[in-house]
Amino acid sequence: MKNSIVITGTPGVGKTTVARELAKTEGYRLIELNTIAKEVGALAGQDPDRGASIIDETKLKRELARVLKSEGAKFIVEGHYGEIVPPRFVERAVVIRLDPRILRMRLIERGYAQSKVDENVQAEILDSCLVNAVEVFGEGIVLEVDATGLDFPQLLMSVREAISGRGLPPGSVNWLTRLQKEGVLHEFLR
Ligand SMILES: Nc1ncnc2c1ncn2[C@@H]1O[C@H](COP(=O)(O)OP(=O)(O)OP(=O)(O)O)[C@@H](O)[C@H]1O
Ligand SMILES: [Mg+2]
Repeated sequence: MKNSIVITGTPGVGKTTVARELAKTEGYRLIELNTIAKEVGALAGQDPDRGASIIDETKLKRELARVLKSEGAKFIVEGHYGEIVPPRFVERAVVIRLDPRILRMRLIERGYAQSKVDENVQAEILDSCLVNAVEVFGEGIVLEVDATGLDFPQLLMSVREAISGRGLPPGSVNWLTRLQKEGVLHEFLR
């Protein structure tokens, strides 16, 4: 019963903005992972070092399975730990990517602490969300969308295409190579 599209990616790449618009225009039921985790009490506390919530994964997976088995509905599930969605429901996982330089500016603008900015930017450079998605859902299910330089309507169009199976296969985006070519990689290796 594959009735769900997962939108994942590093915090700040634009998942929530895209997912809300798709839900509104295309009749998906929207599940925001951070919201549902809060609602069902699957936030198992705070990691004081990282300023991030710890997720009770078992509880959240159980709740997702309960909701996603609704007959006849189609879902968009968005969040930076999209790999938590039980794979039997997942028709497509779209990983939104963003140039680490732009991501860094966005996260600074959000007022994130330096350590949290660095952690997220490094996760983007190391393809963390992509790797997690491929590990759980398999290569054939996952596509990347590079949001770099796209305005919102263009990003939305690219995500729609990826949902329908036209997009970048895993491994297409390579920030390490790009940053190195452009001579700025050292700025990210602090
Ligand atoms: N294509 C775009 N161009 C410019 N800014 C964008 C674009 N898409 C989203 N943004 C902006 O980037 C910021 C982050 O977007 P959003 O909150 O959707 O990210 P997110 O991936 O859901 O992050 P988080 O995982 O922390 O919830 C917002 O201020 C949003 O307006
Ligand atoms: Mg969000």
